[in-house]
Amino acid sequence: AGRCVVAVDGPSGSGKSTVSRRLAVSLDARYLDTGAMYRALTWAVLRSGVDLTDAESVAKVAGEVDLRIGTDPRGYGVTADGVTIDKEIRGPEVTGAVSAVAAVPAVRAMLVTRQQEMIANAGRIVVEGRDIGSVVAPDADLKVFLTASEVARAQRRSAEDAADVAVTAADLARRDKLDSTRKVNPLQQAPDAVVLDTTELGIDEVVARLHDLLTERG
Ligand code: C5P
Repeated sequence: AGRCVVAVDGPSGSGKSTVSRRLAVSLDARYLDTGAMYRALTWAVLRSGVDLTDAESVAKVAGEVDLRIGTDPRGYGVTADGVTIDKEIRGPEVTGAVSAVAAVPAVRAMLVTRQQEMIANAGRIVVEGRDIGSVVAPDADLKVFLTASEVARAQRRSAEDAADVAVTAADLARRDKLDSTRKVNPLQQAPDAVVLDTTELGIDEVVARLHDLLTERG
């Protein structure tokens, strides 16, 4: 099969990860979780102890990390300097700091380049994030922007993390605000993206709909 790049963007809890992984499995494609890359660098920055508001130091630490991430949609590993950090990158410390690290322009430039190389090497790949359709893969074969009501997003995330809904809702709102208002590559809907509101849709329905869209486009 030929090249095919699917870009999936949207806020936290919109169903991006589940949908993207399932779609990649059914397309027999690779899968890239760009949020995990920002989270991994954030873990390294926290470990280094540098001040999160010091963009220059954050960028320096980020630039020195040996970050590796797999692209198997059935389960991929993330390592930083050889340390497996799949669990750590989902923890509250990283979640609390990731938007600040992701707002540093030099960090984004570095990761966007890395992501573009991985996409070029993959051939068929589903890529999820915040700026994939707008910045990382503007010529993707299909761009999807997933949304869902704030309540639905908080419920999904708190179920995944076994966390309190109200705490999760507050965290999502805080991250959405930071991610949407940062100066460089904010969370953005590409003009040619297909917008899907997943509030009332099951995962299967969303995946099926994306499958149809890809088939229609040949
Ligand atoms: O998708 P996930 O919630 O794991 O992303 C974690 C954080 O990484 C987001 O809140 C955002 O700050 C950042 N991110 C980003 N650009 C991407 C993917 C994630 O800025 N393409």
